[in-house]
Amino acid sequence: MTPIFFLHGFPLESIMWRPVEVAVKRKSFAMDFPGSGRGTGFSPGYESVGAHSIAAYARDYAGTIGVMMMQRGVFCGLSMGGYVVLELLRSFPDKVRAAILCNTKATPDTWEAKNGRDALAARARKEGMSAVVDEVINRLFAKVTYQRQPDLVDAVKKLILRQPVAGIVGQLHALRERPDATSLLGQIRVPVLVIAGDDDQITPADGMKEMARAIPGAEFVLIPDAGHLSALEQPAAVAEAINAFLAKVD
Ligand code: MLT
Repeated sequence: MTPIFFLHGFPLESIMWRPVEVAVKRKSFAMDFPGSGRGTGFSPGYESVGAHSIAAYARDYAGTIGVMMMQRGVFCGLSMGGYVVLELLRSFPDKVRAAILCNTKATPDTWEAKNGRDALAARARKEGMSAVVDEVINRLFAKVTYQRQPDLVDAVKKLILRQPVAGIVGQLHALRERPDATSLLGQIRVPVLVIAGDDDQITPADGMKEMARAIPGAEFVLIPDAGHLSALEQPAAVAEAINAFLAKVD
């Protein structure tokens, strides 16, 4: 059976997939993106901000598949992770057995969004992660999650606070420069599952449904009581959707 790779969202790290990973019935891998995790933020080859791009991250995954002597992988990405899965589908389609796109989108950043990224990067550089964490955290979850799962919100806040500024700044550059993937959608020829949260403020469910419609044969699952971090807010429902999809993928 083809192993599954879990690609995390911004500004988190691979551990965000843990609750889903343990429930998924398949060999799995979850790695940190360059700059994420507990290091300095300067991953080898990514010492400069300009080295960060969605294309470079996708190349790393294609390389990893080769190093692991695998032909293909199932790739499951949330938000930024989803942008990288779309790039893998564009540049390395032969390496993708199936794709799962969670809380993500194919459209590029608007000018307003790019300006927002620049402002966030400037503030993080000047004042550190504590100056940006509240702005980020206030958009990540469904309203019910803030009310019913305050411990989760707190844990994710701590996760964000421990990310190195250099890595976050690099990833913001990759996010702002990412290409438009909308014209790719109709050309995808592998099984795709699209997972949306019903209260996602960053990648709203309606847009994700539209994205699913544009991908031939794609399945769409809406997760109730979930915002942008559906995999953490409702891991059982997300794992169930993934397992049902994977049952049809060798
Ligand atoms: C993410 O969760 O990876 C981010 O929301 C992506 C983005 O800001 O575009």
